[in-house]
Amino acid sequence: MKRKIFWKKPLNQLIEVSSGDQGLKKVLGPGGLLLMGIGAIIGAGIFVVTGIASADYSGPAIVISFVISGLACLFTALCYSEFASMIPVAGSPYTYSYVTLGEIWAWIIGWDLILEYLVIVAAVAVGWSGYVVNVFASFGLTLPAALINPPGVEGGIINLPAVIVIVFITGLIVRGAKESSNFNAVIVLIKLAVILLFVIIGLNYINPANYHPFMPYGWSGVFKGAAIIFFAYIGFDAITTAAEEVKTPQRTIPIAVLGSLLISSILYIAVAAVLNGMVPYTEFKSTAAPVAFAIQKVGIRWADIIVSIGALCGITSVLLVNFFGQTRVFFAMSRDGLFPETFSRLHKNYKTPINGIILVGAIVSMIAAFIPLTSIVELVNIGTLAAFIIVSAAVIVLRRQQPEIKRPFKCPLVPLVPAVAIIFCLFLITQLPTVTHLRFVVWLIIGLFVYYFYGRRKSSLTGEHTS
Ligand code: ALA
Repeated sequence: MKRKIFWKKPLNQLIEVSSGDQGLKKVLGPGGLLLMGIGAIIGAGIFVVTGIASADYSGPAIVISFVISGLACLFTALCYSEFASMIPVAGSPYTYSYVTLGEIWAWIIGWDLILEYLVIVAAVAVGWSGYVVNVFASFGLTLPAALINPPGVEGGIINLPAVIVIVFITGLIVRGAKESSNFNAVIVLIKLAVILLFVIIGLNYINPANYHPFMPYGWSGVFKGAAIIFFAYIGFDAITTAAEEVKTPQRTIPIAVLGSLLISSILYIAVAAVLNGMVPYTEFKSTAAPVAFAIQKVGIRWADIIVSIGALCGITSVLLVNFFGQTRVFFAMSRDGLFPETFSRLHKNYKTPINGIILVGAIVSMIAAFIPLTSIVELVNIGTLAAFIIVSAAVIVLRRQQPEIKRPFKCPLVPLVPAVAIIFCLFLITQLPTVTHLRFVVWLIIGLFVYYFYGRRKSSLTGEHTS
């Protein structure tokens, strides 16, 4: 008999649990989920990271970096769609690997997703705080340094705005998926309007001379830029964690995943092209708010505040949906016994996993309040790329192992498409700094210890299993 760590969860068992008492309410429709996808994707990546990637790596060829990362995501999104429509259960890649690859792989990916979602939320909350400070400053109000920085940074004691936004989002997610999705829809529409406004205004201020040199750091810069800007695309995967709460997941999830990715890619390429046409790439070195910076540079003061509001909305929706994703991964892991059972207990009225949500809120607000977050983007990227690779591989494995399962959405050209996804993601990982690779390995080793001493013993997978 195979060792328990390689046991797999039977698919029928999963579906049964998710539709019983321990299951989540099915309240999300295609429009809401599509907007959640766009909500999770467009945020700090375009409003903050594009400037750094242009200035330090890609130059105006950031547009090509966006295309490369976008293709990696497109191939992976096809794999996610196959799984999410076939296994519409909370937890997404964690759950898929439990069914296809076995418990140890599920644990590794769940642990890896913590690195993705938890760290995104903490990092993005800090970015949110920075934008709030800017908005106050544009009205001539200076917030006290002690309350907007973590200890050790410019006399800081606590990053209070970051904590406030996290507490707000925690409350919203406790209320339920429907309430979260409605709030998300409003802020996503504002952010989309602001991005379109920026592109339309910016088109009039393009100076073709700014596109030369187009590739100042050569192809190597473009590839490194692609690995960094990959951050901007993360999020389409987060909505698959909500699969259990979707009304007709078989149809809705592929539409929402692929639709949100497509819309975001088009907007990114347009914004990146306009941005680099408005301002020479070298000038982005000095700013963490490139979109607002470009608008200021060409002297349209009224649009400056609008762009900041759009960025705030964008970053809030990223916070919301990735936070949501993290709570669903915790929920699924806890329901399977790999985390304490209390984190999957549902609230009597709201039917949401309240303890897990509060735990996520407490952890991310502590990180955002007290820890200075630098070079965190690379760490999030490597965690996500690793998850993408495992999901793509799992599509190939499950097609071989259980070809008979009904797949409402089929990834085309298997094994070619998943294989290309894996190659793209592996390539982007090689483009990240070595220190990021080391940090990632340390994180995985810690995870394996936790599994060995806790998850392995407490896992609920003791009876029926496949091997
Ligand atoms: N894609 C998300 C963002 O850009 C993480 O903020």
